Amino acid sequence: MSTTAVLAAHTEQFLAEVAQLVRPLPPALDRAMRAVPRHLFLPAVIWPRDGEGGYRPCDRATDPDDWLSAAYSDAPLVTQLTDGVPTSSASMPSMVLRTLALADLDLDRESAGRRVLELGAGTGFNAALLCQLCGDQAVTTVELDPTVAAEAERNLKAVGHAPRVVRGDAGAGWSAGAPYERIIATFSVDRIPAAWLEQTEPGGRIVTPWNSAWCGGYGTLVLTTTPDGGGGGEGRFHNFASYMAMREPAPSTPAPADDDGSGPPPEQVTSSALSPWAVAGGDLNAEFHVGLAVPGAYFSWDASGEHAPTRLDVADDTGLSWATVDYDGQHADRFTVTQAGPRRLWDEIAAAYAGWENLGRPSVDRYGLTVKAAGDQTAWAEGTDGTREWVSLDAAVDLSQS
Ligand SMILES: C[S@@+](CC[C@H](N)C(=O)[O-])C[C@H]1O[C@@H](n2cnc3c(N)ncnc32)[C@H](O)[C@@H]1O
Repeated sequence: MSTTAVLAAHTEQFLAEVAQLVRPLPPALDRAMRAVPRHLFLPAVIWPRDGEGGYRPCDRATDPDDWLSAAYSDAPLVTQLTDGVPTSSASMPSMVLRTLALADLDLDRESAGRRVLELGAGTGFNAALLCQLCGDQAVTTVELDPTVAAEAERNLKAVGHAPRVVRGDAGAGWSAGAPYERIIATFSVDRIPAAWLEQTEPGGRIVTPWNSAWCGGYGTLVLTTTPDGGGGGEGRFHNFASYMAMREPAPSTPAPADDDGSGPPPEQVTSSALSPWAVAGGDLNAEFHVGLAVPGAYFSWDASGEHAPTRLDVADDTGLSWATVDYDGQHADRFTVTQAGPRRLWDEIAAAYAGWENLGRPSVDRYGLTVKAAGDQTAWAEGTDGTREWVSLDAAVDLSQS
């Protein structure tokens, strides 16, 4: 089928669907979206979500109609699986548009002399949109995976664009092209890497999806760097965004835990009035807060009935601390909590949840991040009266003196 026929069949409905988060859609974004056919950026086999928390293969050779309708659906499409884990994807088009809108690309500006850095080239689709919006000369995109980078370059060339595609770790930005007006990440982070702050021009903008071990990917940070160029900045989180996490350039081996010979610390069994569903039951605002305030903690549900009718398992990324929270199937006001390790994780989570309730249960768009220097990043939540409560991004740090 010709590109023209494909676009005619899909574009209007597709655009209406993907513009839902950016209304009204600025004409330049509308034009860019029409000019960049998404299907030309997808490999022959893609993995849309299967509706049950996993992915299903979709092969252009065996089911071209399914493949094409997936291409023109407002859904993220995994384009590379490594050992069953998604390692590259074509982002959800409505999120791509929204991120571009949040980047506020100053679209009336002449393209000469512009500098925009995209992080995570993936398929090259977003880089092609950036080329449409700012001109090929303005755009650099960085991709860690050399195979993915080569594919992105090919896809971009096929639609007539030639931005600079750099192979490397986007955590280091790309200093040779700095300073940038905008740095736009298409994977999520839990801290702004120092290089991004250094490479953004004073008063420039960094837009990045956020993540935490507890909440996964949720929230997009839009941070403006300080006009004096001091390496700091401030910004707000916006709701939505569920992007894969930034990959490490090489597998990192966790440092072995210190063994002082005294054996594991004793388990502590208590009871708690806090329902595990309050913090891990799908309220993304509560989970976002817990994710910020209890760094490194993550959870999984155990409904096997082996230990309790329902159990929430909690652990932290050091592997040293853990907690279980058991529902006995009858009493929804008291839960049995067992904790062990240097951190009392459930106590931290309960304190974080109480903090969130005291703030009036803020939604993600009432949070922000203040960066004084790369090593000094603190999140905050804004109360209804505009006062800020600070939330440390470091485990167990007392901010009462801030
Ligand atoms: C969601 S995909 C990007 C989508 C892409 N912008 C598009 O339009 O198709 C995220 C990409 O970021 C890349 N990535 C993850 N960590 C990275 C890192 N540290 N440096 C560079 N690229 C990275 C992944 O390999 C993946 O291709």
